[in-house]
Amino acid sequence: MGCCHHYFDLAEGGADAFTVSMPRLTFGRGTLAEVGERALSRGMSRVALITDAALSGSTHVERVRQSLSDAGIEFAEYAEVLIEPTDRSVLDATAFLKSADFDGVVSVGGGSVIDTAKGALVYLRYPATFTTYFGKPVGDGVAVPGPVLPHIACPTTSGTGSEMTGLSVIRLEHLETKFVIASGHIMPDEAIVDPATIDSLPATIVASSGFDSMSHAIECYTARAYSRWPKVDRPGARAQIQGANPWSDLGALEALKLVGKYLVRGVADVTDLEARDSLMWGATLAGMAFGNCGTHLPHAMSYGVSNLVKGFSAPDYPTDRGPFVPHGISVIVTSPAVFRWTAQAAPERHLEAAAALGADISGAAVDDAGEVTAKRIIALMKAARIPNGLGGVGLGESDAGALADSAARQSRAIGNSPRDCARDDIAAMFTAAVSYW
Ligand SMILES: [Fe+2]
Repeated sequence: MGCCHHYFDLAEGGADAFTVSMPRLTFGRGTLAEVGERALSRGMSRVALITDAALSGSTHVERVRQSLSDAGIEFAEYAEVLIEPTDRSVLDATAFLKSADFDGVVSVGGGSVIDTAKGALVYLRYPATFTTYFGKPVGDGVAVPGPVLPHIACPTTSGTGSEMTGLSVIRLEHLETKFVIASGHIMPDEAIVDPATIDSLPATIVASSGFDSMSHAIECYTARAYSRWPKVDRPGARAQIQGANPWSDLGALEALKLVGKYLVRGVADVTDLEARDSLMWGATLAGMAFGNCGTHLPHAMSYGVSNLVKGFSAPDYPTDRGPFVPHGISVIVTSPAVFRWTAQAAPERHLEAAAALGADISGAAVDDAGEVTAKRIIALMKAARIPNGLGGVGLGESDAGALADSAARQSRAIGNSPRDCARDDIAAMFTAAVSYW
């Protein structure tokens, strides 16, 4: 695809095609009431309704129950999803799916809920040692063998984008870190995105999830071009994480414009529905983009942050888990340092991303790309009262080595960095991420 953007110029031995996958998407206020009819259209008659304990009593889940009942669909509810799911918690959900003869799944919740549903559907249909479907070297690198039960995903936060992707993030307890199952077979069949679900979210959760979707979008736009990944010999070998491509560019740039314009407004004023609707749409678009592209270093490095965090707990999140850093915060605290480092490999794209996010790039030279991008992110972090780098979540320079060792196992995401990256580079980025202001 050298015709319209040099970033995708074909390279010797590089991929010369990309594949776009996405669920059928329904977006709009009140659309949770459509779940029942959509489930019927997928041939569902006995549904597993998957959610978490906090959401189980919400009007959102009640609306879905009502919609399923109105459509004459039987359902049983599993509300035991663990925030930040583990192999053990996913297998618990799998056992629930095995307990009855379900013919479909409806998930209602944030990324933890939707990712739990995806993982449980895999182990229900294709039982295996848990690491089988994770990428090497952590797992066996075995592809998910085929389709799973139909799945309708209904997000209740404006960040994860999981309803749009074939990716499931699960923490492997024996390795104490999160890894990803990536397969087109676990992409939900339907995404029903109802922005009314985030009307009542506390500002802290809107902030964390908004920075997650912001980073999805910047990471997509600045990721290694798909044409710099090796050419595959058959379509089934083409990865979900296939690198930046013209399709992911569309969603990523629009998501950046929306998050740049509305994130601070949506955090500052819970009654600003225009801002919250726009953040929900931005998260959906960013999910659509990274579901076909993959993220890179900020996400790879975030898993180290969430593993090693010691003395931090976030307001408005469950407090019974001990130290906990919300995913969006674990991602964004390293992002400015990362983009300062990656910019030299793709300066124009960093500048374009920064401009979409609202930075003034007039007069900026390519050598300024990293700084311009970092400064815009830092300004938004300050305005939304996000912790100041790693130091803000209780980590310091002395943790950089352990953080880098933890992150270095995320080989596919690290390979999606536009700039070739070794373990020591990651350690240096963690050191540079300790404090920004
Ligand atoms: Fe994320």
